[in-house]
Amino acid sequence: MAPHESFIPTINNGHIDVQELGKANSTSIPQRFIRDHIPTPTTFLSFSNDIPVVDLSTLCKGSGGEFNYEISKLVSSCQEWGFFQVVNHGIDLNMIESMENVTMEFFNLPLEEKQKYSMAPGGIQGYGQAFVFSDDQKLDWCNMFALAVIPDFMRQADLWPTRPAKFSETLEEYSKQVRILCQKLLSFIAISLGLNANTFEEMFGESVQATRMNYYPPCPKPELVMGLSPHSDGSALTVLQQRKGSPVGLQILKDGDTWVPVQPIPEALVINIGDTIEVLTNGKYKSVEHRAVADKEMDRLSIVTFYAPSYDIELGPMKEFINENNPCKYKRYNHGEYSHHYVTNKLQGKKTLEFAKI
Ligand code: OGA
Ligand code: NI
Repeated sequence: MAPHESFIPTINNGHIDVQELGKANSTSIPQRFIRDHIPTPTTFLSFSNDIPVVDLSTLCKGSGGEFNYEISKLVSSCQEWGFFQVVNHGIDLNMIESMENVTMEFFNLPLEEKQKYSMAPGGIQGYGQAFVFSDDQKLDWCNMFALAVIPDFMRQADLWPTRPAKFSETLEEYSKQVRILCQKLLSFIAISLGLNANTFEEMFGESVQATRMNYYPPCPKPELVMGLSPHSDGSALTVLQQRKGSPVGLQILKDGDTWVPVQPIPEALVINIGDTIEVLTNGKYKSVEHRAVADKEMDRLSIVTFYAPSYDIELGPMKEFINENNPCKYKRYNHGEYSHHYVTNKLQGKKTLEFAKI
């Protein structure tokens, strides 16, 4: 370790806490964060605003011209982007704000307090940095706090913080509302694919739901680091909320070659297709690679909910999506096995999905 790096604050599992790093007020970035290859330059294109916006209240009408138009937008979002923003999503805006507030209060606690909820080495729940498996792996410029919410047996009650006092009940209530949103969205996604509305809900059993809160402090040299490494999500569907006033941070890999920043729309939530839907639709709807970048001046908070099938469910491409022109691309596998594979490998683009390829 270089002498100037001796102050680096490490947390229980040996990772570096980026918030503590910021408090040290140094402009030098520890080597563990500096990427060998500067990530593909981002093209700030004017079409960045074209990430489709879907109005859930129109979809909830259930039929008619406006409904059909909204469904067609859902089709193009899922086929061409793997991402969309949803407005009129039905989640109480006060609840969204409360969730942001308790999460920020948590991240702003002294490190000793947060360390009561430390992520175990190689673990994914708790406070720390997930997906780090070796001492030479590059680290992301991000502190994470992740908790499984449903089903009960996946919950690690000892990791649910007692400070701030309202954290647990807020996450609980927020999760109920997000769950309903996921169920509605999956039913419209099914309709957009020409399937029965309840197809996915019937298939998934008691769906797994987990929330990861990502806090990105400002970085003196954001061009040298990654906020969150490129990856696709191992879920069926992901719901991402960004704190009001956060800088643009999320970027998605459009058509495999252009990083497009997602401009937050006030009060909208960002939705993306996860690996499960890609497999079930035999690649018709794709889980698109995405990443987060850090900002020089501003911090950023995202609250991300992953919704996925029960771990005992077997998955594979549905027969509706296999034909002569579209031969079956993925094997059948147990979703719990896939999840295990996902969380025991570092984030590396869409590499995890190779597990499921034929
Ligand atoms: C994630 C994710 C992006 C962000 O947590 O899976 O993609 O902007 N987060 O925090
Ligand atoms: Ni993601």
